[in-house]
Amino acid sequence: MAAPARQISSTFSQADWERIRAETFVDLVNYHTEVDSTNTRALELARIGAKSQAALILAERQSAGRGRGENRWWSPSGALTFSLLWTADALPLAPADWPRAALATGLAVSDAVKQFLDGEATQLKWPNDVYLRHRKLGGILVEGASANPGVLVIGIGLNVNNSTAELPPPLADTAISLNAAVGRDLARADLLIAVLQALQSRLSQLATGDPRWLDDWRKQCLLTGRTVQVATHAGVLSGVCRGVDDDGALLLATDQGPQRCLSGVVNHFGE
Ligand code: BTN
Repeated sequence: MAAPARQISSTFSQADWERIRAETFVDLVNYHTEVDSTNTRALELARIGAKSQAALILAERQSAGRGRGENRWWSPSGALTFSLLWTADALPLAPADWPRAALATGLAVSDAVKQFLDGEATQLKWPNDVYLRHRKLGGILVEGASANPGVLVIGIGLNVNNSTAELPPPLADTAISLNAAVGRDLARADLLIAVLQALQSRLSQLATGDPRWLDDWRKQCLLTGRTVQVATHAGVLSGVCRGVDDDGALLLATDQGPQRCLSGVVNHFGE
């Protein structure tokens, strides 16, 4: 007899928060039905001196979700929307490694998502967007707290049980939800726990100089070999992507010769 279909709850419960604390490194769960931005909330908690070493700020919805650069991030009900607030004592990384933590986080999200796919590959768009079927599944915003240099905030937004058709154009045509890919809703607590566990493992590879995380990242690089346009603080660069350097910089072959981008937003990339 087939196993009964599992009931998927549309909101997180206290039992979920307890599981998260028991099965991951998170020592505090700060839960909101709606918040402006979980990253902004995390930075506020850092400013007022939260005692936690690894707090999870989790929201059902965001009213003013922030993306990289000037972008907004839409987080309707059913999406997975959270930030981690990490103190330097709890995060096993030297501050010099923090820029690469953004890349390692994208890889960890990809690792976790793959546990829910039937062998299908995900791709990573530098620095840390997670793609599936060439559409954006999730985004990551890593921020330091200027008032509190020992603190790192990692914000993650994933389209899980929300319909991307409701997103404003052009996102409706460029985004994808996990439930659309697998044909059923998923238990977001299971996915969240998988992301947190993968994050711990990938960040510890980064911290110990284990090269596997970067090898795995490069295998999933969506941009390698494609023509890309990157908005950097020094202007827009165009060229063919030659992969990612050991320090996380995007490598470009441009008409003016090789270029390295340590930060920036990829606005366009070719087929
Ligand atoms: C991007 O793709 O530009 C990054 C998107 C990051 C979105 C997440 S959702 C949770 C956290 N809170 C925010 O306001 N942004 C991040």
